[in-house]
Amino acid sequence: MLQGQDQLWLNEVVERVRTKLDWVSEKSREKIPYTTIDGTHDNRIVDNPSGTETDGINWWTNGFWGGMMWLMHHETGQEKYKEIAEFSERALDRCFDEFYGLHHDVGFMWLPTSVANYKVTGNGESRKRALHAANLLAGRFNLAGGFIRAWNDLEGEDTRGWAIIDCMFNIPLLYWATEETGDPRFKQIAMRHADTAIDAFVRGDGSVNHIVEFDPVNGGVVKTYGGQGYEEGSSWTRGQTWALYGFMMSYIHTGKIEYLHTAKRIAHYFMANIPESGLIPIDFRQPKEPAYEDSTAAAIAACGLIEIAKAVQANERDVYIRAAVKLLRTLDESRSDWTSATDCLLLNGSAAYHNPNRHTAIIYGDYYFMEAIFKLKGNDLYLW
Ligand code: GLY
Repeated sequence: MLQGQDQLWLNEVVERVRTKLDWVSEKSREKIPYTTIDGTHDNRIVDNPSGTETDGINWWTNGFWGGMMWLMHHETGQEKYKEIAEFSERALDRCFDEFYGLHHDVGFMWLPTSVANYKVTGNGESRKRALHAANLLAGRFNLAGGFIRAWNDLEGEDTRGWAIIDCMFNIPLLYWATEETGDPRFKQIAMRHADTAIDAFVRGDGSVNHIVEFDPVNGGVVKTYGGQGYEEGSSWTRGQTWALYGFMMSYIHTGKIEYLHTAKRIAHYFMANIPESGLIPIDFRQPKEPAYEDSTAAAIAACGLIEIAKAVQANERDVYIRAAVKLLRTLDESRSDWTSATDCLLLNGSAAYHNPNRHTAIIYGDYYFMEAIFKLKGNDLYLW
């Protein structure tokens, strides 16, 4: 995909990823990390900083460490990565027992762990876990509104009608379940949700809402929320990337051309807003100062842009690849840490605009950075 200086850079960054993951994987082999504390990975198997049922082992990001291990197993062929991935997959079984901590994010949790394991090894236990998760996700579908419900009940809020753009990343679990079992119900639900998202989330300029509330009994949009972005009507960048790459995934699984067109519309909005610096803010409509960033949005966008490049005609590809390389080179050159001082790869991830823990290590930033790098190399393991 690349030439000249970009290809040389890619070769070097692949080596940096391989070197760092070699020792980080050993150091964190019995953990499921989300972030770093004083440079060391935390461990969501035991840590529960918020003390809530959706945190700890049920935390929505707990599939990404396993996903990183499967990417490394694919890249290196080394057995140790498979063993670490399987350890984290087994640790997640407790979530099924506890049940109440699970919500729409079961795709993020079991696609990069159990579906990955099943695709690579044919493990029957992994298939069972993934189908169980798919059934939980399908069970969240609201027939009147044509959407998958987001979180469970939140204190002081009636969230029965809430759907969020992030769910575009969970519905590939439903596509997989139909591909695996031949039962069309899962795919039907996924496509209904994606179609609703086109109508209710994607705005005229190609940007997307984070949260849309529907009437849970009669359907129909009630209102929108700014969610993890700056404010209602703003443009939370990670949400843009969940949509960009998410619609691309729906296109990959269904071939429905409207999904590709939607992914491209969002991508063009996103590319037009990439600052000269290549550093992505938390929200494209946030105040200029403080200049809060989210490195995770850059990494996810790069993955989606590369997937679009693979799907379009040769003469269209360059614009997407150039944007992806700009984002990734910026991350590598100014927002990464390849030293032994920290267990993470990327710096300056931000969970949400109004969350004071900004500019931290976040595991999915590292995951998507690796996925994008291996995609550019041309040998990624497609986990979605
Ligand atoms: N899916 C939640 C987030 O992106 O933070």
